[in-house]
Amino acid sequence: MADLKIKRLNMENPFVIASSPATQGVAAVVKSAKALPGAVVMRNFGHGAGGGSYVYPSLQDMLEGKTVLQSHAEGTQTKDDFDSLESYCEGLHQARNQMPDSVRLWASIGHFLDTEAGGLDWEREWRRQAQEMERAGADAVELHFNTPGIAAVRNRVYDFYRMIYNTTRDIKSAVKIPVMVKLPVEACDPLRAMEAAVLGGADSIGPTARWRGFVFDLDWKRTLPRPGSGYGTSGALPVICFTVAEARKNGIKTPMYAGGGIYSWEAAAKMIMAGSEMVQLGSVACCAGPKAVQDIIHGLDAWMNQKEYADIASLQGCALKLFDMPKETAVKRTKALGKAYMLEKPDKEKCNGCGKCAEACWYEGIEVKEGIAAKTKKCIGCGYCFSACPTGALSLDAGQIIGDATEI
Ligand SMILES: Cc1cc2nc3c(=O)[nH]c(=O)nc-3n(C[C@H](O)[C@H](O)[C@H](O)COP(=O)(O)O)c2cc1C
Repeated sequence: MADLKIKRLNMENPFVIASSPATQGVAAVVKSAKALPGAVVMRNFGHGAGGGSYVYPSLQDMLEGKTVLQSHAEGTQTKDDFDSLESYCEGLHQARNQMPDSVRLWASIGHFLDTEAGGLDWEREWRRQAQEMERAGADAVELHFNTPGIAAVRNRVYDFYRMIYNTTRDIKSAVKIPVMVKLPVEACDPLRAMEAAVLGGADSIGPTARWRGFVFDLDWKRTLPRPGSGYGTSGALPVICFTVAEARKNGIKTPMYAGGGIYSWEAAAKMIMAGSEMVQLGSVACCAGPKAVQDIIHGLDAWMNQKEYADIASLQGCALKLFDMPKETAVKRTKALGKAYMLEKPDKEKCNGCGKCAEACWYEGIEVKEGIAAKTKKCIGCGYCFSACPTGALSLDAGQIIGDATEI
């Protein structure tokens, strides 16, 4: 068994079931905790937004890590059990008593609309919430600066980055438990937002990619009950991996729990390899429940064993060598591939003369003669014909060539 523990935050594994209908109210938190994630974030109270769910094209695709989009604006709105700080704290207390001790319980503070009102009242209110949540037994508090939400408020009368810094610093001084700062990547400079939270003393930062989207089929009248749906998407993963890697490259060392598009253990592994010690599970926890979360935890564990990654620390950031590679190394790798593209000739046995290679060539570097493709002297080795070939007549092991070109 690989050691999945995140020791700094006393967590059994890197999985955080994020604030969502899967963590709204005591029963949902306790149900989610049965998957034995590292932490569950009890959803911030007082807005109740988020109905049922719609995964396009299908849940099965989501679980297989294929491209999907998730919307939470469909169906009946999820009931919010808490209408006050007092009832939320009572809920925290109950959940703590009913959950396995090993699962950390994070409390989510405030709502982005609080900030839009301006003035100092919401800041005092967030501080009061943090203190009461700590008293009620929360293992950590989370500040809600993510999207769709805070970065998308219309009336931005404040300096967003200063607000992150001020609020983080203020809450840090109000409680002893760790302060997690959940951040957007939309409508802001994510690196600056992360730096502001780090400067404010955040114990962990959670850059999160979720977008508002307008989703519809060609048969648009039958598409969705409401307009403007679509938040989660597997397309978020590369974006958030870039955000995390960029932060690490720029010297941010604070533990991260990045989120967005993690619907499979493979996606979780990639997020950790990009440099985030922990990962959020949002849409997948909502749409598929604790069993799917458990499968993701076990999947990562099994793969780490097989690949002999002893613990999270040995996996975390191991892809950064790719992200950070010196320019000369990158040039060598891409040149090696270009050379192979140029030298490799079409396999006559496999070529069916369809001409798709010539269609995709912009240099007259390949032509079809007597029903068979043949390279010309003008080939520059750009590789378009290789991607266009449907029969495998033009194919090479690009991974091997790139890997052999340099040591990184
Ligand atoms: C239905 C739904 C409702 C959500 N509501 C909240 C919320 O109230 N507060 C919050 O901080 N994040 C909320 N989120 C965002 C999640 O906490 C998490 O950051 C995000 O879902 C991660 O991206 P993923 O869905 O692609 O996994 C919600 C997510 C979903 C799926």
